[in-house]
Amino acid sequence: MSTDTVSAEQQALRLRRSAGHFATGVAVVTSAVDDVPVGMTVNSFTTVSLEPGLLLICLKYGSRVLSCIEQSGAFAVTVLALSQQRQAQWFASRSRPTGLAAFAGTPVRIAPVTGSLLLRDGLAYFDCRLHAVHPGGDHAIVVGAVADCGELTAGEPLVFAGGAFTGCAPEKPRRPLHFSPSGVALSRSTSASAAGVTTRRNGTASPTQISANTPNAAR
Ligand SMILES: Cc1cc2nc3c(=O)[nH]c(=O)nc-3n(C[C@H](O)[C@H](O)[C@H](O)COP(=O)(O)O)c2cc1C
Repeated sequence: MSTDTVSAEQQALRLRRSAGHFATGVAVVTSAVDDVPVGMTVNSFTTVSLEPGLLLICLKYGSRVLSCIEQSGAFAVTVLALSQQRQAQWFASRSRPTGLAAFAGTPVRIAPVTGSLLLRDGLAYFDCRLHAVHPGGDHAIVVGAVADCGELTAGEPLVFAGGAFTGCAPEKPRRPLHFSPSGVALSRSTSASAAGVTTRRNGTASPTQISANTPNAAR
């Protein structure tokens, strides 16, 4: 093995370790060709746009689900609950079969628009038509147009952090965020003035005065 190869491997390991500190949810992407379904665990899921509704997943070249999505032009994403750790591991195992056998023992539903399989005990689903596939190094960046989405079962989300599965109990429901006319979240107070937030003459909040996040499709 050449020195260059070793250093490239070390760099990849460092990248993997560093990225592992970014806690994510876990999802299973499903697609089918000629009624032969495939599913695969991912954590590269993120929403991209609200209008139009777009999301992305990054799929390694050579994965069965990528080839299936490219052929069928459709896929679905099921967001997993903490109780679905076993499924997360199963749909990430190389030894799982292709086809319905891979879903034996996993309760499923049919996604309303594309007919892709959904994992019934998940928290939420996104039923997508393929919008675009962009190259991204050793992965393809697959963008889906959301044709339908919704909630499945109430529960705690499955989280992947530091290379391990964990949980993340959502906090008790809080009062909704207060949004300014520009769409910037000001605070959880009942009014902007009560929170000490002032606005510029054109009605937009000064960035130094806002206390919370700018609404974002993804987070
Ligand atoms: C928590 C977790 C998240 C994963 N996320 C992704 C991902 O976003 N993209 C990807 O290509 N593989 C991801 N994988 C790996 C694939 O699930 C795994 O390599 C799978 O076997 C690929 O399908 P294949 O057998 O058809 O190649 C993830 C694995 C785990 C355990």
